[in-house]
Amino acid sequence: MDERGAPLRLCASAELVEKGRALIWNVLQWREPARAFALRHDGRVVAYLNRCAHVPAEMDWLPGEFLDSRQEFILCAIHGASYDTQTGRCVGGPCAGGSLIALRVEEQGGEVYWYPSRDTRPCTEDATPAHESPP
Ligand code: FES
Repeated sequence: MDERGAPLRLCASAELVEKGRALIWNVLQWREPARAFALRHDGRVVAYLNRCAHVPAEMDWLPGEFLDSRQEFILCAIHGASYDTQTGRCVGGPCAGGSLIALRVEEQGGEVYWYPSRDTRPCTEDATPAHESPP
């Protein structure tokens, strides 16, 4: 069964430069607020939940900066777990056997789109916490 939602535009393709700063956006992961990121590596845009497989913490060492000093791997700033940029699989450090949660993104017509899934949904007005009343 296709679990894809309607694609949502993230940014223009040109905004994600090769091995450059990632785009970060808010999502709901299993109905809980979380952040995701997209970056370009080896010419391809990839996207993951910003959550390390070692400890469920955000990984960027500065906002949007995920790559190691050689710009080869995604590096968790907390304890140094390294991940393959194309697959999200752990390649070193304390994430052994783990993987990042990959999000589906595609480039079409010079734009980058994200396809929400059953598990990872957009943050919308209906995500307002129950204790907050609408204006
Ligand atoms: S939290 Fe990422 S390596 Fe420990």
